[in-house]
Amino acid sequence: MEMALVPGIELLRHAHENGYAIGSFNINNMEIVQAIVAAAEAERSPVMLQSSQGAIQYAGAPYLAAMVKAAAEEATVPIALHLDHGTDFEVAVRCLRHGWTSLMYDGSKYPLEENIARTRKVVEMAHAVGVSVEGELGKIGGVEEQVVVSEREALFTDPTEAETFVRETGVDYLAVAIGTAHGLYKGRPDLDFPRLAEIHRRVGIPIVLHGGSGVPEDQVREAIRLGVAKINIDTELRQAFLEALRRELDARPNELDPRKVLGPGRAAMTERVREKMRLFGSSGRA
Ligand code: G3H
Ligand code: ZN
Repeated sequence: MEMALVPGIELLRHAHENGYAIGSFNINNMEIVQAIVAAAEAERSPVMLQSSQGAIQYAGAPYLAAMVKAAAEEATVPIALHLDHGTDFEVAVRCLRHGWTSLMYDGSKYPLEENIARTRKVVEMAHAVGVSVEGELGKIGGVEEQVVVSEREALFTDPTEAETFVRETGVDYLAVAIGTAHGLYKGRPDLDFPRLAEIHRRVGIPIVLHGGSGVPEDQVREAIRLGVAKINIDTELRQAFLEALRRELDARPNELDPRKVLGPGRAAMTERVREKMRLFGSSGRA
């Protein structure tokens, strides 16, 4: 059966109600799109492909959209296309125009009232065309493309503020800061589960965990049990891809065919995504 891109909330609602999480994996080029979709097919897993604003700058919104739509046309599992850490209203508009089915508006650097006002504007626009929206409250440490937050600046999400934020913006899912960070962890992350439970109790909507790379498996499972229904993974996929690429480049210093080095990168990334889908419990759900 041929599939069109589905609204993000359709995937997340089913995951949220059934105690598993959707992996949202960052895309930048064709090999990455293919790697992730191949994993979803092999695992019979619904999947979200997400592009940062940096990815859109790098590849162009029309290219990314065309690749993901081409993948979805051939796929037999549901796929959503999501804007990751959108900070620019214009980019959000462009994504809607090119067929994204889920948008994140990241207004976490603003004071609560301004974050609410800016996020609500994106929600009103996206909901008008059936596209769901993720908001962010609290600051997630580390670097994700243009969003830089120092460790000291990282601020955990306040459950009372979360309740106000969700009620006043109408977001469909909420990204929270509970101890994860973007990029590589220096020590072992230690997630604040009581805080997560309290936020989830108050907002009732699917919770999004950013900085999913390197979070220990037991903590991932506990986060899902407490309401996380979308987990973002970027760094670990980059690592898998580049490790294989480096190995191949070293092994074939005279290689003249890019496919010979990119292909193994793609295959290594597929394996990493499959592991995540099994961990998140999304395998076999499509
Ligand atoms: O928004 C993207 C993610 O939060 C990725 O985080 O690179 O630590 O996996 P990560
Ligand atoms: Zn993130």
